[in-house]
Amino acid sequence: MSLTKYRHLFPITKEYAYLNHAATAPYSVPVARAMDDFITNRHRRGGLDIQKWEDRLEKVRELVAQLIAAAPEEIAFTSNTSHSLNVVASGIDWRQGDNLIGAETEFPANVYPWSNLQRLGVEVRFAPAHDNRILVEDIAALMDEHTRLVALSFVEFATGFRNDLRAIGQLCWERGIYFCVDGIQGLGALDLKVTQSPIDFLAAGGPKWLMGPIGAGFLYCRRALIEKLIPIRVGWWGVVDRDDYFRYDSPLRDDARRFEEGSLNLLGIHGLGASLELLLEVGIPRIEERVLGLTDHLIAGLQERGYHITTPLASPQERSGIVCFNHPHHALDDLEQQLSKARVIISKRGQVIRVSPHFYNDETDIDQLLSALP
Ligand SMILES: Cc1ncc(COP(=O)(O)O)c(C=O)c1O
Repeated sequence: MSLTKYRHLFPITKEYAYLNHAATAPYSVPVARAMDDFITNRHRRGGLDIQKWEDRLEKVRELVAQLIAAAPEEIAFTSNTSHSLNVVASGIDWRQGDNLIGAETEFPANVYPWSNLQRLGVEVRFAPAHDNRILVEDIAALMDEHTRLVALSFVEFATGFRNDLRAIGQLCWERGIYFCVDGIQGLGALDLKVTQSPIDFLAAGGPKWLMGPIGAGFLYCRRALIEKLIPIRVGWWGVVDRDDYFRYDSPLRDDARRFEEGSLNLLGIHGLGASLELLLEVGIPRIEERVLGLTDHLIAGLQERGYHITTPLASPQERSGIVCFNHPHHALDDLEQQLSKARVIISKRGQVIRVSPHFYNDETDIDQLLSALP
């Protein structure tokens, strides 16, 4: 399988071994072009072509839906993952004494919207990690008759552990507990279909594995829950008669667009659309295979050189595009400096170096990293 033909769409490859998609991705040529087109159009024609951009918005909504096997009516555009999670957190009819379950290795974006509910008397429980793995049985053990929601990431940001969404979703489904997933560390690189895992809400932002612009994200809300979620942020954009400016009593739309309260980030969404078109053309299963192949190559090379991999490796189903490592004798700052000198772009997270290649990377990028390590 050759994905080499896509490499030229990422000019950054000429300068860097860019292995940092778990932080932010570079814009591909199609994304940069799409955004240039939008800016040029607005520059020359102001709002004259607004209908064209609003039609495009609906096209991008279809692309998001296609990515996760949802219906376009189940997708709301948001600014970022946090915005999406807050729509969910503020939309549930919490009762004093309710609880929800997260995990202790979550990125803070998937903690604050939930801990903010403590003021309503909601208890937040954290599943522990064992060797960086979140165990389904630990989630199950934390559940009781007052549990209303489980909030987990598709992939944990600082370990690369891929949660078993199917098993956890099943547990939630059987007990009538909402399941909310932060998808940003997997979507775009790993296959996730809401038809195959019982997920109620799926939140993501564009700039990581989806390789879109910053400031464009989305929320998937399961069809049956759209009108159950209390719409806390409402506005003219989300009502049925949006263009009837002097009607103040229009009902909210009956689809997820009711959560879009005002004018959207058309530039960012257009850019995100260009990236989704590319990712879907390549095919997510092919991308996943490629990303896992590159991380296999990386892991083998690191182990050969005596590095300690902190990402759980026991089961292929738990792997993702993220690999984290450290060394018993080399300081992290030194490793980071050596890599930076060799034009290898990675992130330091806590006590590890985090590497996150995407489909257009190849073995030469990984080898550039390996040969820069002491
Ligand atoms: C798991 C996870 N969720 C969310 C975010 C970012 O949140 P937002 O899109 O709100 O900026 C990150 C990383 O920055 C992350 O790793």
